[in-house]
Amino acid sequence: MSKKEIEIAKNRLSSGEVVIFPTETVYGIGCDATKDMAVNLLYKLKKRPKNNPIICHFANLEDIKKNFYINKTELLLAEKFWPGPLTLILKKKKISKISPLVSNHNEYVGCRIPKNKITQELLSKVKFPIAAPSANITSETSVTLPEDLNPFFKENILILNDGPAKLGLESTVLKINKNIIEILRLGSLSEEMINKKINNEIIINQKSNLSPGNLLKHYSPKKPLRMNIKSVNDNEGLLNFGSTNLFSKVFNLNLSSKGNLEEAANNFFHYIHLLDQSKCQKIAVVPIPNIGLGKTLNDRLKRSSFKN
Ligand code: TXA
Ligand code: MG
Repeated sequence: MSKKEIEIAKNRLSSGEVVIFPTETVYGIGCDATKDMAVNLLYKLKKRPKNNPIICHFANLEDIKKNFYINKTELLLAEKFWPGPLTLILKKKKISKISPLVSNHNEYVGCRIPKNKITQELLSKVKFPIAAPSANITSETSVTLPEDLNPFFKENILILNDGPAKLGLESTVLKINKNIIEILRLGSLSEEMINKKINNEIIINQKSNLSPGNLLKHYSPKKPLRMNIKSVNDNEGLLNFGSTNLFSKVFNLNLSSKGNLEEAANNFFHYIHLLDQSKCQKIAVVPIPNIGLGKTLNDRLKRSSFKN
């Protein structure tokens, strides 16, 4: 990645255009969070309902403090996990110039400092936070490799290509409620990882109305998907984990033959893309242990397998 490409991205963002950029979780499609017109364009490109708020990405904690109130617990989380795969829902100050459209006119906004060298440089060069959802069309799968991006995005939008994302699952979205940590969306930061650093009670509250992004059908491949399978049908491609005796006659992938959940998280979205492109008619996924990142993987699989 050359300095020139980052400069071009900066100029496009500054003139209200959108840019696709890498983060340690998944690729993002972003714009100037303070420009209503640009945020509107983002919703349109992603085909995203306006009531589903968008995360704002910042270069550093100082910039977040200028725009948001931050209490003791929030500060502790920020210090332990930023830059990194944490999104904190914070209360916006009146003086903030962040567009009300990023949060459907709500004063609570999702904030995050991503851990990726290129994007950190971009964020430090622009004079505004970058509003960015994951770089996929609404309800489709997130993207961890630029080659998996939607063809329309590939042809029409500048992409800062930094190869495969380091973690592979989206950020964990947290809201602090009377010192209790509420997980609004499971993500790359597991409950266990938070527990190791912070003593506060943690509850998973993915049904919260605050996160309409948690629609049941989400992260969906184009093909029907079955999870927790015990046998594979003839027309199914297999997404395996660890060492099972299962085998597909059409297409086989293993998220991690060693049974490592970090490796599985890292491969997950790319493998779903590969299965979607393979000759199989349906996708069958073996059980994934429901611990640590396995909880996030099972959450994504549940939404992927949801039938309307
Ligand atoms: O890792 C990530 O979080 C990636 C990268 C690009 O940063 N972004 C991402 O954005 O996954 P998106 O828009 O695909 O998912 C954001 C989730 C949605 O479930 C949304 O409802 C929730 O965060 N969210 C965003 N702002 C919120 C807010 N103000 N209140 C409650 N939930 C919010
Ligand atoms: Mg998304």
